Amino acid sequence: MTNVVVIGSQWGDEGKGKIVDWLSERADVVVRFQGGHNAGHTLVIDGVSYKLSLLPSGVVREGKFSLIGNGVVFDPHAFVAELERLAEKGVTVGPDRLRIAENTALILSVHRELDGIREDAASNSGTKIGTTRRGIGPAYEDKVGRRAIRAMDLKNMETLPAKVDRLLTHHNALRRGLGYEEVAHETLMDELQSVAETIVPYIDRVWKILDDYRRRGARILFEGAQGTLLDIDHGTYPFVTSSNTTAGQAATGSGIGPGSVGYVLGITKAYTTRVGEGPFPTEQDNDIGQFLGERGYEFGTVTGRKRRCGWFDAVLVRQAVAINGITGIALTKLDVLDGLDEIRICVGYKLDGEEIDYLPASQGAQARVEAIYETVEGWKATTAGARTWNDLPAQAVKYVRHIEELIGAPVALLSTSPERDDTILVTDPFHD
Ligand code: GDP
Ligand code: IMO
Ligand code: MG
Repeated sequence: MTNVVVIGSQWGDEGKGKIVDWLSERADVVVRFQGGHNAGHTLVIDGVSYKLSLLPSGVVREGKFSLIGNGVVFDPHAFVAELERLAEKGVTVGPDRLRIAENTALILSVHRELDGIREDAASNSGTKIGTTRRGIGPAYEDKVGRRAIRAMDLKNMETLPAKVDRLLTHHNALRRGLGYEEVAHETLMDELQSVAETIVPYIDRVWKILDDYRRRGARILFEGAQGTLLDIDHGTYPFVTSSNTTAGQAATGSGIGPGSVGYVLGITKAYTTRVGEGPFPTEQDNDIGQFLGERGYEFGTVTGRKRRCGWFDAVLVRQAVAINGITGIALTKLDVLDGLDEIRICVGYKLDGEEIDYLPASQGAQARVEAIYETVEGWKATTAGARTWNDLPAQAVKYVRHIEELIGAPVALLSTSPERDDTILVTDPFHD
């Protein structure tokens, strides 16, 4: 049985949510394995739009089971708020269809505040990352520092005070150093107690649930957040998020062996966008960038920030194909390029006068690379809303085929609008 992992092959916002929702019809269970509510996914189903951050994008489909794996950092308040927002749209997600791994580290108010404090301080010194200010980085730091409060701790109020003390010893020392007030033990205890009752029924052994699914031959869909270039190891460090966003994390971040991961589907936008600071070789800070941003409605789902836009970068995606072992891609937002006379594709970089075919690892070199472009003809006819391959103009097909050649991976799915059904299936990732 083939399972599928969906990951972003650029800087996030490639349209992972839409594709996961579409694919979830074919899956039995959808699992998040990293990141947190820094993710923002918009799904459009029969004209109704759903915005998801922490919940797996399969929750909108009735009868599908969802899991939040241990690799996620979990903000209980954001979780409750998201459940409420979905309930207003008629989608109820109770413990009968969602479980959270007991060993998931929590994001608390101290993390959110620290994220904001650091970003504000960095704004003045020019070292800002442009985070989503959701507390993601500080929560992962505490996890790796072995002082995190984890979901299972909400089940045991007797052992919680000692864990809170340990966490606050660290945070209050940091806060004093930064000139901020200390957080009282009772404040954090109250915060945890206020959510415990709601969260506890969802807490479970996700590794065991997954093992049962696997043994039954059920189909598992792993849902990545962010994108390869935001990966803590492989991305544009330090302008990255604090988790591994690449396919290998699907196994560790959910508690299943790597042999069960199966097909790696890289979600790939037909151009490039990025939110926040950091290098972006094909960025178009001009009319083209403006055009892509307006046509593609490139505003962050989480923070509402305008996304930076640029041409498709085949060097980056080829690198993502290698790092993730991408089997096939889902090419999204092809419709945004409709009507352009010419389209440019980055096929290499120039670094200090020399041509290279990869993104170098150092921050300095990443800032200095210049894109080498190839120009291809655009198409006048529209691809928007196309649902079959035959509906695509010849020139658009040529663009897709050329991208496949440049990145060394085939297109498995094509997306031509935000709407769930405006999707073309070329090869089923869940093939047996
Ligand atoms: P994610 O973070 O990867 O899930 O992506 P986001 O949901 O943050 O951003 C993708 C945006 O593009 C959303 O607003 C989607 O509704 C929209 N979208 C997805 N696929 C397509 C497509 O093929 N065409 C157009 N025009 N919009 C799309
Ligand atoms: P989805 O899942 C795009 C970016 C932030 C910032 C950097 C670090 O919707 O694709 P963080 O808050 O994670 O510490 O911020 O990562 N970032 C994203 N950019 N899409 C996302 O998620 C992102 N999640 C984080 O803008 O540059
Ligand atoms: Mg997004």
